[in-house]
Amino acid sequence: MCGIVAYLGQKDAYPILLKGLYRLEYRGYDSAGVALMQESGIKMFKKKGRVEELQKFCENLDTSGTLGIAHTRWATHGEPNEQNAHPHVSEDGSMALIHNGIVENYVVLKQQLVNQGVAFKSETDTEVLVHLIKSVQDKEGIPLPEAVTIALRMVEGTYALAIISTENPDQLIVAKKGSPLLVGIGDNEYFIGSDGAPIVEYTKQVVYLEDGDVGVISRDKPLRISNVNDSERLPKSPYIQTLELSLEQLEKGGFDTYMLKEIYEQPKAVRDSMRGRINLEKDVVSLGGIIEYEQKMLNARRFIIVACGTSWHSGLIAEHLFETLVRIPVEVEYASEFRYRNPIIYEDDVLIAISQSGETADTLAAVEIGKKRGATVIGICNVVGSTMARETMAGSYSHAGPEIGVACTKTFTAQITVLALMALSLAKKKGTIPMSLYHKLLNDLETAPEKIESVLRQEQKIQRIAQYVATKQNAMFLGRGVSFPVALEGALKLKEISYIHAEGYPAAEIKHGPIALIDTNMPVIVVAPEQHIYDKVVSNIQEIIARKGTIISIVNEGDTTVSGMSKFTIEVPGIDELLTPLVTTIPLQLLSYHVALIRDCDVDKPRNLAKSVSVE
Ligand code: F6R
Repeated sequence: MCGIVAYLGQKDAYPILLKGLYRLEYRGYDSAGVALMQESGIKMFKKKGRVEELQKFCENLDTSGTLGIAHTRWATHGEPNEQNAHPHVSEDGSMALIHNGIVENYVVLKQQLVNQGVAFKSETDTEVLVHLIKSVQDKEGIPLPEAVTIALRMVEGTYALAIISTENPDQLIVAKKGSPLLVGIGDNEYFIGSDGAPIVEYTKQVVYLEDGDVGVISRDKPLRISNVNDSERLPKSPYIQTLELSLEQLEKGGFDTYMLKEIYEQPKAVRDSMRGRINLEKDVVSLGGIIEYEQKMLNARRFIIVACGTSWHSGLIAEHLFETLVRIPVEVEYASEFRYRNPIIYEDDVLIAISQSGETADTLAAVEIGKKRGATVIGICNVVGSTMARETMAGSYSHAGPEIGVACTKTFTAQITVLALMALSLAKKKGTIPMSLYHKLLNDLETAPEKIESVLRQEQKIQRIAQYVATKQNAMFLGRGVSFPVALEGALKLKEISYIHAEGYPAAEIKHGPIALIDTNMPVIVVAPEQHIYDKVVSNIQEIIARKGTIISIVNEGDTTVSGMSKFTIEVPGIDELLTPLVTTIPLQLLSYHVALIRDCDVDKPRNLAKSVSVE
């Protein structure tokens, strides 16, 4: 969602901010803006649409200045337009502010400010912040850092903020609660980012602000941090960490799009997610991050998995893995529903939160509920240092590397890998898995990257199938057992990047309604690898063919039954049924990708979507 980049140093800020905005594009946004501190005061540039529009607009304008803040906005309060775009300024133009997050009590605060005579220019919740801080400062006659602290004590909700003011043209104030913010420390210069992407090119020394932190960054002085919850505002010593990100990971590396690059990175993502976690000699699978809580997991009454979107699909796959191998009951919940349902949670429950970004607001809220009610809370996420990594009691990273394409691809298969390892490790310790199956699954996991590679080699064939699907208005994805979540994921990928309406269903369920949609115009993509209910899937396909539906099937190499009933077939190598999602997902990603390209869609930045959904 929204992105923040800011700079204070000796260089011209604008080129750094602009590049930073481009690097933040992947988060999803619909307007962008920059504010620069110049001798004449604060100069602002804002544009609806892409960063490119902003760049064109600024081309012949004075963009000088060595202090600046910039923002990409994903609209929440008020439509995407220039008024609502950040930065927002105080009425006298002396202060400018950018904000990620949501001010939950903005209606009350706005009314108080309006009563004081403040005229608002936008419909955003953010504008409240700039007027509130200014009003506190004017009333109390105090320096800006103090005014920010006092104002933020009145704010309910989440924020990552960067503020500049003509009161001190060599100072940048930052603050954070519930929305990430990093301060990159360079040589007499500071780089601020809502994530590492706009910073990594310049420095790897970063300070992750903690909730309630207010940072004061002054030219040629060390970073000073205090916390709004500390009434005395005592200075905290900044904890400098190394940013685990490389520039190379943020670039397309010869591919046309990030999404295609990331689809092709899956053999590596799966391998990296296993690296150091399997010791074949000792016959041991071990996930270091959860060791301390392993006993709690082994004794769990139940696993509650909370997640959203693609991560929720991983959760559904984990349900099969954990129930089959560990024999512990599993509930898989949409985090957004779970959080508002007064769920029954026992102290011997283990709540597993899955999120690639580690910043999804609903999933984080579910984590809080789990913690408050005494459950053991484990996280699985892909971003080191993310809020989820810090808020859960323990967890395991999926090591897929940064994912820039908005649609999840490699983080999905990496999540499945980690979940499979977790299930294997627990099952062996609990004695719920026959050793022959344990060894077979380990072996199949080890060979999964090569099997994914062999599916990737079929891209051209999939491209031809995409020509057919791209002409359709609707598509249905079917699967059973562990292939049902894969069908859901296939449908999600297609709709989110090609805007073709798609539904995922358990294959047997369609006769309870969706079969009414089947006709010659409905492509039905069936995920039908060898599995214990393969014959049942065959019967379900017969029902579709009888209604003149067109079958596109994903089957194992050498399959003749389902492929004989299909207009198109994509073959995947055999792998244990529980691990089939690692290979059957790949053709569905490629199919959606090529359909979207044929339909001229922006695959990396699908409309209306954001990479990390940090608002509920
Ligand atoms: C789908 C997609 C979304 C995310 C969802 C959860 O391609 O990107 O559905 O899966 O927003 O995001 P995370 O995993 O970051 O919690």
